[in-house]
Amino acid sequence: MFRSFAVRPSARGAWVSLVLAASGIWLAACSDEPVVPLIEEIEDTSGLAIDQELQLQLSLMGIDGRIEERFTAMLGREIDQALAETGRLLFFDPILSITQDNSCSGCHGPNVSFNDSKSISIGIQNNGVVGPGRDGPFNLRRAPTIINAAFYPNLMWDGRFAAESLDGFDNSQGFRLPQPEGYSLSDLDHLLMAQAFTPVTDKIEMAGFDFKGDNDAIRSEIASRVDQVSEYRTRFAESFPEVAAGGPVRYEHIARAIAEFEFTLIRADAPLDQYARGDTAAMTPPEKRGALLFFRDPAACFECHITLGYANQMFSDFESHAIGVPQIAPSETNAVFDGPGYDEDFGRERSTGDTGDRYKFRSTPLRNVAYQPTFMHNGAFVCLDNSIRHHLEMRESLESFSGEHLEYRLRAKRGPDEDMIQLAHELARIPRGRLTLDQFEDLVAFVEISLSDPDAHPDALRYLIPASVPSGLPVHDFDYDAPPRECR
Ligand code: HEC
Ligand code: HEC
Repeated sequence: MFRSFAVRPSARGAWVSLVLAASGIWLAACSDEPVVPLIEEIEDTSGLAIDQELQLQLSLMGIDGRIEERFTAMLGREIDQALAETGRLLFFDPILSITQDNSCSGCHGPNVSFNDSKSISIGIQNNGVVGPGRDGPFNLRRAPTIINAAFYPNLMWDGRFAAESLDGFDNSQGFRLPQPEGYSLSDLDHLLMAQAFTPVTDKIEMAGFDFKGDNDAIRSEIASRVDQVSEYRTRFAESFPEVAAGGPVRYEHIARAIAEFEFTLIRADAPLDQYARGDTAAMTPPEKRGALLFFRDPAACFECHITLGYANQMFSDFESHAIGVPQIAPSETNAVFDGPGYDEDFGRERSTGDTGDRYKFRSTPLRNVAYQPTFMHNGAFVCLDNSIRHHLEMRESLESFSGEHLEYRLRAKRGPDEDMIQLAHELARIPRGRLTLDQFEDLVAFVEISLSDPDAHPDALRYLIPASVPSGLPVHDFDYDAPPRECR
């Protein structure tokens, strides 16, 4: 079983092996020989050897440690700081929810590096807390971070918000959103601007069930509420001549401001990047060994968490795959779960309607992943190492998953495993537990430390929380004192 996996034809893999073989460093194992022991040999050689090897591997993967500094060039202009500041205030202001009790920051909190503070989002009817104590009806999935999202060619757990050009900065082929928006937001300059039109219309996230009217009506209502706040009017007048000339604040202005704030949330200068730029002391020996494991069989993480080309060094192929994540469903929810027991999430099938997309989720971009409180689309794991172990031993992970680490209301229902196992990606179905314990630790160290930009740590983001917001509505209570999880 292992063998067929190791020799799996893969254009990219073959190319990498070839180049490495040509440089005399690495011979791809096309036999029953396990690939991994080579890494042990690497350990025995001098530090210099592993650095040479890793530098070469990174250059093959297109990792040059300079993606962050390229941001403004990709945007084609400097960030508009005044507009970004307006966007920051809006991001934290419950005025954007018709129910006035939630904001973007309610689900994307700075205290959790702009991820969700829960395994599954809680939207409307929350208790104002962002942290483990957040309470209210659960939605369907957890909110991924918005840090670095400006680099993504598509958004959401199933990539259903997409730049057809495979480049969020390029609208020339249109931005595809689910209906009713469709392609209608394609004249905006960046995918994040289009995305910012949608959370406010989502009933369970921000809009609530009482307002009568379609998405456009919801957005007009919000824009007119914002227009009535004099500080927002002044701010928008400074950024947009049509508002200065007396015109109303429109939702497009709001969306542009929010996206501009998101542009300030680029945090892609991690130890790996410093290392790629030539500072060989930026990573520890375990991280370096872990990096080589990440980019090779049998761990083969790079097969889905890619860095080349349109991936913009974000560690995702931005495609959806089924990897059999344990299905959990809350006891109290305002979302409609899938399957006969209403305890499943069919993943990409929900937006494409194609049963072939069942259980598929977008490979998660991995930068700064260690700062998350939970992992996977439903936060089924609360420890990074378990989310990685799951990839290597899907069946075992499913069998041993007790859900005990989850809060009571998320332990009520557990969706079935068997169909999910059958439909899982070949790499998920083949156990890849061939890593030794030490190797596994190295792999975790790489993902945990080398990919973490210290500026994306919750403490480094605290300054972004406004003391008050222009609407005068209460800013959420961001819990910075939640006890760290006991993971290892
Ligand atoms: C109720 C919680 C909630 C609120 C409020 C919320 N989001 Fe989200 N956000 C989510 C969830 C859940 C997802 C993933 C949804 C999915 O994939 O089905 C998401 C996804 C995103 C993404 C895509 C990230 C990626 O990795 O692809 C962006 C960007 C984003 N939200 C921005 C915003 C902005 C801007 C606001 C405010 C206007 C906002 N969100 C409000 C829960 C929320
Ligand atoms: C077959 C494609 C594939 C391969 C190979 C793969 N992953 Fe993933 N990975 C995914 C998908 C898909 C998700 C999201 C699954 C979900 O949320 O349901 C994911 C999620 C993750 C997460 C959780 C991220 C988060 O924000 O919750 C981590 C960590 C991760 N992968 C690390 C790895 C590592 C390390 C390897 C190598 C051992 C690896 N992956 C191999 C597809 C893959």
